Amino acid sequence: MNYFHYINDELYAEEVPIRKIASQVGTPFYVYSYQTLQRHFTAFDSAFGEKFDHLICFAVKANSNLAILNLLGRLGAGADIVSGGELFRALKVGILPEKIVYAGVGKTCREMEYALQSGILMFNVESWPELELLNRVAGEMNKKASIALRVNPDISADTHPYITTGLRQEKFGIDIHRALEEYKRIQSLEHVKIVGAHVHIGSQITKVTPFIDSLQKVATLIQKLREEKIQINYLDIGGGLGITYRNEEPPSPKEFVEAISSTFKGLEVTIISEPGRVIVGNAGALISKVLYVKRKDEKNFLIVDAGMNDLMRPSLYKAYHEILPVRQENRSTMVADIVGPICESGDFLARGRELPEVFSGELIATMSAGAYGFSMSSNYNSRPRVPEVLVKKDQFRVIRQRETYDDLIHTEMVPDW
Ligand SMILES: Cc1ncc(COP(=O)(O)O)c(C=O)c1O
Repeated sequence: MNYFHYINDELYAEEVPIRKIASQVGTPFYVYSYQTLQRHFTAFDSAFGEKFDHLICFAVKANSNLAILNLLGRLGAGADIVSGGELFRALKVGILPEKIVYAGVGKTCREMEYALQSGILMFNVESWPELELLNRVAGEMNKKASIALRVNPDISADTHPYITTGLRQEKFGIDIHRALEEYKRIQSLEHVKIVGAHVHIGSQITKVTPFIDSLQKVATLIQKLREEKIQINYLDIGGGLGITYRNEEPPSPKEFVEAISSTFKGLEVTIISEPGRVIVGNAGALISKVLYVKRKDEKNFLIVDAGMNDLMRPSLYKAYHEILPVRQENRSTMVADIVGPICESGDFLARGRELPEVFSGELIATMSAGAYGFSMSSNYNSRPRVPEVLVKKDQFRVIRQRETYDDLIHTEMVPDW
């Protein structure tokens, strides 16, 4: 149950007809369900329950809208960040710095200063040169940086190659077979303090085996570190749990935790988990209007007012998103490519899709768009980014306004020569 449902053939978000929102904010727009977000977060958090000392750090990259971060923060979430901008957002909504962890292969000196100044829980460090810079920056600020090494376990996550991160050939993390010696080497850095170990093997992972395999490797590493008197207090298990876009059958949060927990039982660490997609993915949809129904000899096209700049996943990963008509009466079906107005052949939301016949002026919903939807959107083709709307029961609020043409240019200058 994700609170997007039909009542009398009309698609609703919770208790609000999508059509009603469209008539007030125009199209396209993203819509999120408050109760779905709440339910997903609570299910994930309670899967760890009291049994495991844990902290859920929501992966801000999945959806960084302030209202969403604020809601999750109030439910107890910390934040997994990968940039100074994400840190700014997390702090802005009142997420405590001691609940923030910072990953990413390319942290800059300024970003390190900002994070140290803010007093975040730990840096998930991805390379030796990064450690050297962090040590220098922390020293200049008279601080000690708490760190976890992000280890690369060389495990295939069995997902799209662009979102696999735990293979040795990827840019992420420190190879696990080098981790022990790197941890030992860190002890010589005066302004760095080892507090944890981090692993994240990819995204949209629908089986538990890759998680178990990688966590077993990290657990062995933690035991070896103990033997060397290097204390690990936090095991950050990353994010990556997949969701159902079409017919995938990922484990529930409870099944997920039950399956992986044997790997960290007895380690006496606080578990940090960094879910993104599983919290917000199915809590959001992108609503757009059919501009034209174009019938060519080869195939039919539904040309809609949302494009790859608004939802990049289909173009980038050939990702599948279910497309639903906002009005669903008994209709004959049609097969069409659902495409946007962008001047690229790769601009599509779906290809060769069979769906109830829809006509110009009607609305369609691209489902499961709450994660890596708006947050990956751009102004390509000088298209203002679309508004975001949050629905809670029978009320809704715009949580991000539609950009204007002035917004498009307000940071640009024409030199006087
Ligand atoms: C370090 C890290 N943690 C967590 C996540 C969140 O992953 P997901 O949205 O699949 O849960 C990502 C996503 O790429 C990531 O890079």
